Amino acid sequence: QAPQAVLGIETSCDETAAAIVLRDQSGKGGIRSNVVRSQLEEHAQYGGVVPELAARAHVTHLDRIIAEAARQADMELSEVDAIAATAGPGLIGGVLVGLTTAKALAAALGKPLVAVNHLEAHALTARLTDGVTFPYLMLLVSGGHSQFVLVRGVGDYERWGSTIDDALGEAFDKVAKLLSLGHPGGPAVERTALNGDPKRFAFPRPLLREQRLDFSFSGLKTAVRLEAEKRQPLSDQDVADIAASFQAAACDVVGTRTRQALERFRAELPEHPPQLVVAGGVAANKQIGAALRAAAEATGARVVIPPPALCTDNGAMVAWAGAERLALGVTDGLDVVARPRWPL
Ligand code: KG4
Ligand code: ZN
Repeated sequence: QAPQAVLGIETSCDETAAAIVLRDQSGKGGIRSNVVRSQLEEHAQYGGVVPELAARAHVTHLDRIIAEAARQADMELSEVDAIAATAGPGLIGGVLVGLTTAKALAAALGKPLVAVNHLEAHALTARLTDGVTFPYLMLLVSGGHSQFVLVRGVGDYERWGSTIDDALGEAFDKVAKLLSLGHPGGPAVERTALNGDPKRFAFPRPLLREQRLDFSFSGLKTAVRLEAEKRQPLSDQDVADIAASFQAAACDVVGTRTRQALERFRAELPEHPPQLVVAGGVAANKQIGAALRAAAEATGARVVIPPPALCTDNGAMVAWAGAERLALGVTDGLDVVARPRWPL
């Protein structure tokens, strides 16, 4: 039987994205196209994503991005087997744009619709890129989420921990703002930290002594702010040292928590080899990646970090989640609703 082709649409934050992905009967995936238009420029002057502007930009660009995804895949939209779109969680105006477009295409083409949970799409990406088999532990670290999820199967998720305040990417972004490094902050902090001394400031490692698998980053962010305020005006070396010391604290927290989570995996699923899958924009950070690899090595776990373009928001992950659900015969009606909040 021919592999199934799914169009995926992602509009839940500041990426307008569409992709066509294949999935064969054995579960092997392939990316035919993956087109992403980032709205960085629209939001740059505001130092963060403005929901209303994001929704309007999705309306302006989505049709063209979908047409481009079809062109790059060398397919007509009428040739796909299903239309998938992120239906939440996310900025609701943007989600509505993508989901409504998907409904219109599904209705016009007479194809099934799959309403995808954005977190599920992140969670399943490593199966597309690396053929990872269930079960595995996913660490999602993005601008909106920081959580551990045990992935037992498609639709079978167990959250083991999350953040009680800021997401990790959000902490990077706020620290970058404090240090006037621009938006998005993560890559800027990482670059600046290269010239800094990670040991100069002993920033706190919140919650680290507790056994629970939750994160907290707001105390760390506040400590960084107080240190920066104390030293005004900041020299370039101060800025680099603060960035490096912040990143070291973040790596310490994420690495330690991940080791604890993998130990729990070993204890609770002794019959399965421990596997760690990382998703979200922060996974692009080399120091964070190194901390995660060290945590995996310490617990004898396999670690999979998909390429950065598939860790950050994209259409391929949505198309793939749609293909995985389609293969199980799970589709949605045209009356499915968009959900601003939608925990796994
Ligand atoms: O997954 P993503 O593209 O969007 C969502 O939030 O869903 O993640 C974006 C986040 C931003 O907070 C950004 O600052 C962070 O990922 N990020 C990084 C790096 N690249 C992106 N954080 C640290 N180091 C990086 N190299
Ligand atoms: Zn995301």
